Amino acid sequence: MKRGFFITFEGPEGAGKSTQARRLYEHLQVAGYPVILTREPGGTRIGELIRRILIDLRHTEMAPTTEILLFSAARAQLVSELIRPYLTTGGIVVCDRYADSTFAYQGYGLGRDIDELRAITNIATGGLKPDLTFYLRIDVEVGLQRKRVGRERVEGSSGHPPEWNRLDARDLAYHRRVAEGFNELVRQEPERWCVLDAEQSVDDLAEQIWQLVMSRLAQDTPIAAQ
Ligand SMILES: Nc1ncnc2c1ncn2[C@@H]1O[C@H](COP(=O)(O)OP(=O)(O)OP(=O)(O)O)[C@@H](O)[C@H]1O
Ligand SMILES: [Mg+2]
Repeated sequence: MKRGFFITFEGPEGAGKSTQARRLYEHLQVAGYPVILTREPGGTRIGELIRRILIDLRHTEMAPTTEILLFSAARAQLVSELIRPYLTTGGIVVCDRYADSTFAYQGYGLGRDIDELRAITNIATGGLKPDLTFYLRIDVEVGLQRKRVGRERVEGSSGHPPEWNRLDARDLAYHRRVAEGFNELVRQEPERWCVLDAEQSVDDLAEQIWQLVMSRLAQDTPIAAQ
């Protein structure tokens, strides 16, 4: 069986995950690699329906356990429908957020038991872990501010504003716990993570990410550009 390469992007709100995931995907595609781009929660028909429930600002009554299980349900669908099959063909999967977000947001952010989350995550993913995870590290307030500015900038134009959702709307202390949670996850598995300063320009970040991915692909896998 061929083995692909699984790359994820993590970090707090507005760090630039979606921007960089797309840049990397487009660069890999132009360079001729077999690659897909997906996101969490979502990425499948069922997962995108679950995403709508999760981010709806009206759903203030959602219990933390419901939130965890919905994220996990979307993840289970994404892994079984898209990620595993594509890795099995030997391709590269780029995913905008993955299971680390559950540990950071529901574990460190909401205070849920990490071992319990690990058990649920294992059920959802069947134990599938990324080969490489980029942590776009940014001051929480800078990230939230980027999203606000992005929203104002596109008002009245035809552009799409960065999304402002139920999870973004939580208080600053929560977002700080989430950011500290990501730091803790890096400490636990330093070999899987690559930490980058997300306050650099989009182009500088994209270049660093590209260099890292190229060197990891050369070391780890037989995937070659076609
Ligand atoms: N390196 C950067 N420097 C300045 N602004 C940036 C940078 N990267 C992204 N942005 C801008 O910041 C906003 C958020 O970027 P993006 O949506 O990629 O972040 P995200 O981490 O995916 O956010 P979310 O947590 O909402 O998913 C966008 O308006 C984007 O254009
Ligand atoms: Mg995003």
